[in-house]
Amino acid sequence: MSTAKVRVNDREYELPLVVGSEKETGVDVRKLRAASGVITYDPGYGNTGSCSSGITFIDGEKGILRYRGYPIEQLAVSARFLEVAYLLIEGRLPTQDDFAGFTGRLNGHTMIHEDMKKFFEGYPPTAHPMAILSMMVSALSTYYRDTRAPADINLNIVRLIAKAITIAAFSYKKSIGQPFVYPLNHFTYTENFLHMMFAVPAEEYQVPAVVDEALNMLLILHADHEQNCSTATVRMVGSSEASLFASISAGINALSGPLHGGANQKVIEMLQRILDDGGDHQKYVAKAKDKEDAFRLMGFGHRVYKNYDPRARLLKQAADDVLDSLGVNDPLLDIARQLEEVALHDDYFVERKLYPNVDFYSGIIYRAMGIPTNMFTVMFALGRLPGWIAHWKEMVSDPHGRIHRPRQIYTGETERGLVPMAER
Ligand code: ACO
Repeated sequence: MSTAKVRVNDREYELPLVVGSEKETGVDVRKLRAASGVITYDPGYGNTGSCSSGITFIDGEKGILRYRGYPIEQLAVSARFLEVAYLLIEGRLPTQDDFAGFTGRLNGHTMIHEDMKKFFEGYPPTAHPMAILSMMVSALSTYYRDTRAPADINLNIVRLIAKAITIAAFSYKKSIGQPFVYPLNHFTYTENFLHMMFAVPAEEYQVPAVVDEALNMLLILHADHEQNCSTATVRMVGSSEASLFASISAGINALSGPLHGGANQKVIEMLQRILDDGGDHQKYVAKAKDKEDAFRLMGFGHRVYKNYDPRARLLKQAADDVLDSLGVNDPLLDIARQLEEVALHDDYFVERKLYPNVDFYSGIIYRAMGIPTNMFTVMFALGRLPGWIAHWKEMVSDPHGRIHRPRQIYTGETERGLVPMAER
């Protein structure tokens, strides 16, 4: 068996290696603390394997992303989003019968309980749709038995995927003061979402094919990304045996941050800010490089991809296609292209391997599709949903699963005596 040796002061410890199917290798440190008294220190978990997983493989150096072994480039152009959702959750591509059964079950659950509509009345019109989405997903557990019984799990997975588009579209309608549009189940999943977003009551929305195709690709590209912040959160929360709805709701909150899913909204806001400020992108590049300035170029850089983000490559092409087909002439896209040019050639970005990430282009496409900026992160959540579910399901099915509980290096005060308040 291959091992690693760790020397702590004058003693050496032999630790087993864990090797994955793509030869990724980790040092198994589980017994290190008991044997030596020391822990491993890795703030931000940048070099820590928190689990083993058979769902998604990423090689950040080579720009590889595969779901269950299938390259993202093939899935993005040849599969439907629900096919990919099935693949991630069930571990295999659906047959035609599987797919018909899956979509049929989803269609039976797209509506939310009528009483849940009242929740929307309580949110102010300015409420961020991500906050609404997380609250509504959490609230699903008040309507549906959310236990770990396999039958409940499978039904709740279907409910969650089916109702997510309805909740997302309702939160948008609420924000613009329009009546809710109910799902029409002869539509596909993506068509149904666009219908609920853009139809006026009693009319059927004519979904432009190019918009539907782009949405399908965007959702697939966001569907999973192994142990990212929100997925790790879903696993963390789920490890306490919290329910599916509670765990996914936590993941939605983790995704909302601007350093994670919130970046796509921030990209558009940044491009708009540059445009409003006269369009001088070089000024903002200089700000991003200035260590005294907190400004960062949103949509650049990635914790894992240090070569290029394969999803960004696909979306760059899709952005051109969608904008051309819809005849959109967006000045923000011009600024985006100029920034991209800089990032590819400027030493600061080249040395730090800061390439445009998936959020850089997705915002531009969503904007062309007519999706409002504050819904961008919700779109990301809709895409990531099957990934979160797949990870949650994988975790709860692991007979050796343990509650997640990292350690720390304490840097606070050492023991001291309490002085009564009157004497302080
Ligand atoms: N603009 C300018 N400089 C940057 C940027 C950026 N967008 N990103 C990183 N850097 C610099 C850092 O200042 C640091 O420089 P230094 O070595 O001189 O100190 C170096 O590049 C490394 O940056 P880290 O913050 O250590 O990289 P980390 O892997 O921790 O962060 C992250 C990755 C959060 C994505 C970061 O690049 C960032 O903030 N990007 C902008 C936000 C964004 O686009 N997020 C979306 C990520 S993709 C997703 O969630 C789907």
